[in-house]
Amino acid sequence: MSKLVIANFKMNGSKDFIESWIKDFLAEQESANSIIVALPSPYLQTFSDRDLTLSGQNVSNEDSGAFTSQLSAGMLKDCGAKYCLIGHSEARHFLMETNEIIKQKFDQLKKESLQPILCIGEPLKIKEASKTTDYLTKQLDLIDSDQENLIIAYEPIWTIGTGLVPEIKEIQLAIDSIRCKFHKPIKVLYGGSVNSSNVIRISDKTDIDGLLIGGASLNPKEFAKIAQLC
Ligand code: 13P
Repeated sequence: MSKLVIANFKMNGSKDFIESWIKDFLAEQESANSIIVALPSPYLQTFSDRDLTLSGQNVSNEDSGAFTSQLSAGMLKDCGAKYCLIGHSEARHFLMETNEIIKQKFDQLKKESLQPILCIGEPLKIKEASKTTDYLTKQLDLIDSDQENLIIAYEPIWTIGTGLVPEIKEIQLAIDSIRCKFHKPIKVLYGGSVNSSNVIRISDKTDIDGLLIGGASLNPKEFAKIAQLC
């Protein structure tokens, strides 16, 4: 079945960089998987006419009003985004986002018919205390267990940008614990130090529905290879 392969550019790139990334990526890209690119928001509109599905990287939990620096779900939609990441560990950390705020963001996106990609994942301390499952379950507590079309990205915080990847059985255990919270079929992605050397192992040995890729996605050829091998 076709997988979702998402590039998260984070706060990287420039207009020229993205222009040449798209050219190189589309020239290499042969995968039947669904590709999504989470660009920094100023570039969404600029590249909305390209042959790519775009995602925002975050959204406000409010509709509109005096929230200087924030972007509403409606604005992201206007700029061409079809998806939006929420709850990324970097946003949780730097912007001090709580599970309550993230649930409000989820609702804002749903209201505008944008598809949320809800990121969850445990810090190293929790993994070392063998409390990952409880931690993930808690991050999902506010999401209705009957929710349709959920996409959850499991990104252990200690694997992001570190080159570390969990054991296959740890990934599968986390995925199972996420799936069993919900009554409807959901998509669960894995993210954290994925590259073209480890993608086959992660993708073939688990039942993940896709991947969320940070650093390795900035290289268009590497990202196309990951999408092909996934
Ligand atoms: P890396 O692939 O750089 O580890 O980042 C993962 C991530 O945070 C994607 O959202």
